[in-house]
Amino acid sequence: MTHPSPSSSQPLRVGVVGLGYAGTTHLTSFLGIPGVEVVALAGKETDRLASLGAAHQIPHLVEDWQDLVALPDVDVVSVATPNVLHAPVSLAALRAGKHVFCEKPLALTAAEAREMVDASRSANRVLEVAFNYRRRADVRFARSYIETEGIGRIYHARASWKRRAGIPGLRSWFTSPTLAGGGALIDLGPHVLDSLLYLMGEPRVVAVSAVTHGELGRAGYGAMNRQEQMASDTGLFEVEDLASALLRLEDGSSVAFEISWAGHTVDDEDISIELLGVDAGIRLFVPRYKTDDTLRIYRDQAGVNLTIAPEVHVAGSEHPTVIAEFVDIVRSGDWSGHHGEFALHRTEVLDACYRSAAEGREVVL
Ligand SMILES: NC(=O)c1ccc[n+]([C@@H]2O[C@H](COP(=O)([O-])OP(=O)(O)OC[C@H]3O[C@@H](n4cnc5c(N)ncnc54)[C@H](O)[C@@H]3O)[C@@H](O)[C@H]2O)c1
Repeated sequence: MTHPSPSSSQPLRVGVVGLGYAGTTHLTSFLGIPGVEVVALAGKETDRLASLGAAHQIPHLVEDWQDLVALPDVDVVSVATPNVLHAPVSLAALRAGKHVFCEKPLALTAAEAREMVDASRSANRVLEVAFNYRRRADVRFARSYIETEGIGRIYHARASWKRRAGIPGLRSWFTSPTLAGGGALIDLGPHVLDSLLYLMGEPRVVAVSAVTHGELGRAGYGAMNRQEQMASDTGLFEVEDLASALLRLEDGSSVAFEISWAGHTVDDEDISIELLGVDAGIRLFVPRYKTDDTLRIYRDQAGVNLTIAPEVHVAGSEHPTVIAEFVDIVRSGDWSGHHGEFALHRTEVLDACYRSAAEGREVVL
């Protein structure tokens, strides 16, 4: 179903909730798009709220998200809050007739995520999630290589995001089960899973068997900020710093999936996705957010190993790209397939991983 799109003479009016890294990135990304106005900003840090508001001449500055969602002259609500607020803010915004651009993870649980997708469909408004990593040029190149050249049936993949000492705040909302919904898995897992499923052509995950550990965080080790590590006590860390899972996919293929914030291991941080196809393999390896030389393609040519190193340069943060795509979708008036469906499946998989780890058994989706 298509809808009248706002004409270029009608600005799209955005309200951003959250003033941290994500909120600021949303703000600057929306401000960079012609015909988009940021008319409202919400957040608890009053000084930062005032200074961002003044710097960008934002008329409505509020501390509570409810006051932003209630504004009639806001068309889009951009959600960049702690995870626990993603569902309540998005649901209220959708029910008030706004389009929603939400940070990852879509929600804390699959049940919440389903409610959000249902609300987006019944309000007939767009619900998109900030899956910026899939917009990296190397990930996009790998996808287009698979589509055009082919690597044969992908029978197994290995996907991970690993850090040596990368717990983002031992006492912040990131390590609170109620505010974050989990630890490393719900924080970094959505990006890895999203890029992986995108590369594989959106197969459904049908079963997961997962384990989680929180050894290093519980011992007060592994914070991104070493000062914090010195100050921390044991016993305050209630989420996992490592999760490992075997995912079974509907086509019989499998994925070894591992996410960790901390571990006594070599590299400081790396993201890795290896796709093993029957005709060729692809490996994306991104140590420390590297932007060049991150991709290899492996084939056999006449009995000789052929390694291809595509020269692809990644821009850096891909938030401006994913937000520009979101604005295009809203303006297109064709919102079918943009009600958070992809994000829902990712949330279902992560939710199933947590259940599997808690119950010590494979969980069928
Ligand atoms: N896509 C990415 O690459 C990426 C990167 C970083 C963070 N994130 C996600 O973005 C979200 C925010 O992360 P962050 O690092 O910016 O967090 P943060 O803690 O720095 O910022 C959270 C913001 O939410 C605001 N907030 C909290 N409660 C509120 C309320 N009741 N009303 C209004 N505002 C409220 C806070 O005032 C703060 O400004 C998280 O879900 C995180 O997972 C995504």
